[in-house]
Amino acid sequence: MKICVIGCGAIGTTIARAVDEMPDIDTTYLTDRSQECATRLQERTRKVKYIPDIIPVLPEIRLVVEAASQDAARYYAPLTLSAGVDILLMSVGVFQDEEFQSDAFRLAKRKSAKIFIPSGAIGGVDALSAASLDIMDEVTLTTTKPPSAFGPSAYLESKGIVPADIRVRTEIFHGSAREAVKHFPQNINVAATISLAGIGFEKTMIRIVCDPQVKTNEHNLKAKGKFGELDVVTRNVPSPRNPKTSYLAALSAISAIKKIAGQTWVGI
Ligand SMILES: NC(=O)c1ccc[n+]([C@@H]2O[C@H](COP(=O)([O-])OP(=O)(O)OC[C@H]3O[C@@H](n4cnc5c(N)ncnc54)[C@H](O)[C@@H]3O)[C@@H](O)[C@H]2O)c1
Repeated sequence: MKICVIGCGAIGTTIARAVDEMPDIDTTYLTDRSQECATRLQERTRKVKYIPDIIPVLPEIRLVVEAASQDAARYYAPLTLSAGVDILLMSVGVFQDEEFQSDAFRLAKRKSAKIFIPSGAIGGVDALSAASLDIMDEVTLTTTKPPSAFGPSAYLESKGIVPADIRVRTEIFHGSAREAVKHFPQNINVAATISLAGIGFEKTMIRIVCDPQVKTNEHNLKAKGKFGELDVVTRNVPSPRNPKTSYLAALSAISAIKKIAGQTWVGI
């Protein structure tokens, strides 16, 4: 099987190296706006072939893996799905745009192509997705980060909150996932993933906590419903290649590719 990876950053590079060890995949086409980055990765791997444009290879590939940016997802998802090819998207935050979401889901159905959204940087998405098939009372994600993880934010400024001055664990936001992705774009992928897997952007609640005692980005996913209760904590270590990306996100993409290319799926 041949695949195409968009993006040779933290996630794309980790994926390309892992695919080198996957017997079910013989070629990894790779594109990036930076040709230099893509050709450098080609030199360091066995299966990677840099391509400036994915259109000529679409007829021969089974899966496109987007690991680049929301802009890339907006361009490559319709292009890939229109060709009837499956796509795995890491820039899940793009689905907060309801029009993009419904267009992409409709196109996938019309072309019998699949959209894969890995659990990314958070655990518990499989259980949340199953539980949400019946009545759910609540889904809440509490994300806890050290002050240094918060960049300049118009929302925090308007509330008079300066993360660097926070000395004790402090809740700095509580609201719907829809509002959270607007004010805290750094959290956008995790908030979007649990909203899509569970009860949507309006009903999913997000708490953002600044804690000077923590060193990692921590996500606590809690859900209650007819199924019972879920309480999952993920303490993420940053990717060695990009401190803004959790290492688990790249591993989750690799695990998804293994499932798609292989015969056995556990925990789907
Ligand atoms: N789903 C999750 O849980 C999760 C977790 C972490 C990151 N992400 C997302 O995954 C994506 C990749 O993350 P990363 O840490 O590897 O990023 P990165 O910044 O390390 O690398 C991104 C690469 O994509 C390339 N790129 C960006 N836009 C492009 C475009 N339009 N066309 C071609 N190339 C393009 C850049 O040149 C860069 O090399 C980001 O959108 C990030 O937000 C998702």
